Amino acid sequence: MRVLSGIQPSGSLHLGNYFGMMKKMIEHQEKEELFCFIANYHAMTSVSDGKALAKGTLEAAVNFLALGLDPEKSTFWVQSDLPEVQELTWILSTFTPMGLLERCHSYKDKTAKGIAASHGLFAYPVLMAADILLFQSEKVPVGKDQKQHVEVARDIAIKVNNHFGELFVVPEPEIDDEVATVPGLDGQKMSKSYGNTIDLFLEEKALRKQVMRIVTDPTPVEEPKDPDKCNVYKISRLFLDKEEDAALRRRYLAGGMGYGEVKEELFVRVRDYFAPYAARRAELAADPDGVRAILAKGRDKARYVANKTMRKVRKKAGLEY
Ligand code: ADP
Ligand code: TRP
Repeated sequence: MRVLSGIQPSGSLHLGNYFGMMKKMIEHQEKEELFCFIANYHAMTSVSDGKALAKGTLEAAVNFLALGLDPEKSTFWVQSDLPEVQELTWILSTFTPMGLLERCHSYKDKTAKGIAASHGLFAYPVLMAADILLFQSEKVPVGKDQKQHVEVARDIAIKVNNHFGELFVVPEPEIDDEVATVPGLDGQKMSKSYGNTIDLFLEEKALRKQVMRIVTDPTPVEEPKDPDKCNVYKISRLFLDKEEDAALRRRYLAGGMGYGEVKEELFVRVRDYFAPYAARRAELAADPDGVRAILAKGRDKARYVANKTMRKVRKKAGLEY
């Protein structure tokens, strides 16, 4: 099974990115044919500072590799290293009805939050469809917020296939219900644009500070508490197995447990969970050329597959004469 997903290098990574997408991707490399890339063209819709984009791109690669993405078991590259994707974007855009893009929540949400309503932001799902279809991807693991974009890619694939004959594999989103939406400190979706994240690879002090900021209700310590209404619990359960989860729920329901106590436990869990990856991350960060070499190899592997698709597409579209 061919699995593909991308992540934007537009800021530091948080638990939502990790549990919503990165962790699943890293697990997939063991059994599936994994394609994973840094979506830096997409990030340009929100990052216009070139230096910040370049730095973020390298950092995202370092983080993914440190967390266990293995470039030998997968194909791992930077989106803009394969400009073929732009050619496909144009071709697909000529098949994309305006209405399909006008219905996209992400565009509406982002412009409502003040991100400039550029053509790039509007056409973002077409570029994403090109990412997916260029590699004939079957499964696309994403958080719930990206589901609609994968559906747009499906619609475009079906439309082009109907027109030209079978050209593209029609992809399916893969959304893990358990972690469909990781809540942030305030209970909304964890997102860097809401400033409610718990970030990966923070210094202890900064990490504790973020965890302590999780919003809780004023129920007194001695009273029973509803775990399902508690942001600390909802985040904690990402780190727990079934038994630990049941034990924590019992403590909530029994009363006599304060939110400070569970926050402290969560802080320790997050710290200890990511600690083993920190050394590898430091090593990679100290060797940017080594990371660039890994990405260049990934680009070549990806290009081989992309070219196979593009040869067929160009022919069907009449771009070869
Ligand atoms: P952000 O919302 O912080 O800007 P991105 O849009 O860059 O995050 O998301 C990168 C990946 O991480 C996507 O696959 C997205 O679905 C996933 N993701 C982001 N936030 C969450 C979340 N809170 N819960 C689950 N998945 C998430
Ligand atoms: N839009 C995705 C996000 O913000 C990133 C992305 C770009 C992507 N291209 C993709 C995800 C293709 C899956 C497949 O998270």
